[in-house]
Amino acid sequence: MNMLVTAGPTREAIDPVRFLSNRSSGRMGFAVAAKAAEAGHAVRLVAGPVTLETPTGVERIDVVSAGEMCDAVTEHVAWCHALVMAAAVADWRPAVVGSRKLKKGEGPLGLQLERTTDILQSISHRKGERIFVGFAAETGDPEAEATRKLAAKSLDMIVANDVSRPDAGFEVDTNAVTFIDQNGTTRHIETAPKSEIAAEIVTWIEGRL
Ligand code: CTP
Repeated sequence: MNMLVTAGPTREAIDPVRFLSNRSSGRMGFAVAAKAAEAGHAVRLVAGPVTLETPTGVERIDVVSAGEMCDAVTEHVAWCHALVMAAAVADWRPAVVGSRKLKKGEGPLGLQLERTTDILQSISHRKGERIFVGFAAETGDPEAEATRKLAAKSLDMIVANDVSRPDAGFEVDTNAVTFIDQNGTTRHIETAPKSEIAAEIVTWIEGRL
């Protein structure tokens, strides 16, 4: 199978030296790419700015902003049989990007933000027989929000995680997740290494194709 995976945060420029981003380390998406390649699948990994090594056998496409990630996914989605969107894509970007470093001046600074494209929604018409898996990083009720996103983004399965837990989500090697599929079937995986959760995601996709 051909698997397209996205991972990491995106960076949205404010000026030549500043940006908006988030705490994603890229570990979950890189683990999915590594496990899929180990299982013998062809893997393309669209990576935001992270400090991780490219897993063996994986073709890596580096991007910086949400717009660049959207362009890369749009370009490669036709190639894949399965897409795993593990990236923490920025939802907003500065409406105006300074061409020179902003000077601090006196008093507060207001930043006008505009929405970025929702990548999954923008490619939903290209889904066809492809399997699309998304992630939902939540600090409230992960399962309720994830179920809403599963439908809104035309996903086959969503991996919900509560990023407010110290042993799950950002910047740690473990995660605690719930798989929710289109039929509403849920499966909880208690705290486990991201590599184990990645292997479960790959196995789930293999079972669908
Ligand atoms: N996603 C995407 N394009 C975006 C934002 C998110 O394709 N611009 C994808 C993510 O990669 C993930 C899924 O959508 O697989 C859910 O992302 P999440 O950040 O949890 O949800 P949002 O749709 O951004 O909603 P909110 O931030 O309001 O919770």
